Amino acid sequence: MTSKEYKELSVKEFTKAAEVYESDHAGVYNLCKKDYPDVLAELEKEPFTDLLDCGCGTAPMLTLLHEKYPDKHYTGIDLTPKMIEVAKSKKMKNVELVVGDCEHLPFAENSFDAVICCESFHHYPNPQDFFDSVYRVLKPGGRFILRDMTMNSAAVRWFCNTVEMPLAHLMGKGDVRIYGREDIRELCKNAGLHMESYEKRGFCRLHCVIRKPDAPVKCYNQITESYHQSRNIYDDVLTQSKWWSKLYIRIFWSGVDDVELARRVLRYIPADFSGKLLDVPVGTAVFTHEKYAALHNAEIIGLDYSRDMLAQAEKRLSGLPQVKLVQGDVGSLEFPDRSIDIVMSMNGFHAFPDKRSAFRETYRVLKRGGRFIGCYYVRGESRITDSLVANVLVRNGWFTPPFDTAPQLKRRLQKVYDVTHFHVEGSMVYFCAVKCQIAIK
Ligand SMILES: C[S@@+](CC[C@H](N)C(=O)[O-])C[C@H]1O[C@@H](n2cnc3c(N)ncnc32)[C@H](O)[C@@H]1O
Repeated sequence: MTSKEYKELSVKEFTKAAEVYESDHAGVYNLCKKDYPDVLAELEKEPFTDLLDCGCGTAPMLTLLHEKYPDKHYTGIDLTPKMIEVAKSKKMKNVELVVGDCEHLPFAENSFDAVICCESFHHYPNPQDFFDSVYRVLKPGGRFILRDMTMNSAAVRWFCNTVEMPLAHLMGKGDVRIYGREDIRELCKNAGLHMESYEKRGFCRLHCVIRKPDAPVKCYNQITESYHQSRNIYDDVLTQSKWWSKLYIRIFWSGVDDVELARRVLRYIPADFSGKLLDVPVGTAVFTHEKYAALHNAEIIGLDYSRDMLAQAEKRLSGLPQVKLVQGDVGSLEFPDRSIDIVMSMNGFHAFPDKRSAFRETYRVLKRGGRFIGCYYVRGESRITDSLVANVLVRNGWFTPPFDTAPQLKRRLQKVYDVTHFHVEGSMVYFCAVKCQIAIK
């Protein structure tokens, strides 16, 4: 079944259920009522002011919360218009109710300090999109409380997912899948969220508390430390200049040659380029120094957060008056809007802790018609690489989640750029994208 078909089935199922959902004749949905006290108790462990209920249905949880804490601000979202219609008929103050898809939450980033999702998640065909979306709308430090169906035994879950679900579809139910602890942990890791606790409660309920890490300050410190520690091997790894680095790239990165990848990205810079180029992160300039030496008429700014990287770039680029090196954060660039002709980001976005700000800022400083070029890691292309990234590179601070898949990155770029080149090589993507001439809001 396609995502669209699953969602249509859910809407059909809950359109029928909406009128009776909170009554005593709700059939199987009566079981959901047992979850509300637990979610309430979990929420009450910490203060909150802005709460989002994902898949809120007729808003029984929001009703409970609203009665107890009428002054807080609540938002509920549900895919089924009839569920939202019933919820709205309660006319609760400070409660906004929206028809929408939880896989693409239509709210500004960092909007909520608490997100709950109760008995709705098993209806989502693209669970990672939902987790990524929750990450985006949660404030740093905010909590996500997930309550859903589960079974402890992987064999029983397999049975439910492969035998029971298709039968449920025949009976008009839009359920997609149930999950276990490791599935949820993986979804969190990919989204950049931290699974604080996971419990199986009662016969078949998962009760999970997930947190968006605090402002990336901690990440920045870790990045600084990691690049400090790896400063003496960084170039060897990337250029495969030692036997062990060749082996590493062959085993873990499908043999993708970073030097060749960098060469291809650098080809997007015209040989006679005479404008302003921002290279972020400049790193040690191991791939770029020869090209920069030939760009006599260009103005090149190499920016990096790590002073260790800059110190090495300084050695390679010191004789080039056209290059200026700056320490700074890609998430808050000190350049005016539309002041740069080419923004280049090689091997940067998989490390940047605040990718949204990085995308926003690189876009902001680029002139209309200017080029955004670069290469970086995307997940979903190789299990070995994904496992290395999650278990070693993220843990040690060289990479920071969340990571896009190649299609996600392409879509992200296409929203605001005209993507002229987009290639996937192993788990790396390299691209050239031109900022659209008209302003995009
Ligand atoms: C069993 S009800 C749970 C309602 C409520 N959270 C509760 O605990 O009683 C599941 C709800 O998930 C909603 N739903 C399913 N897929 C959704 C999606 N992709 N985005 C938003 N809501 C969705 C359904 O419309 C339905 O109202």
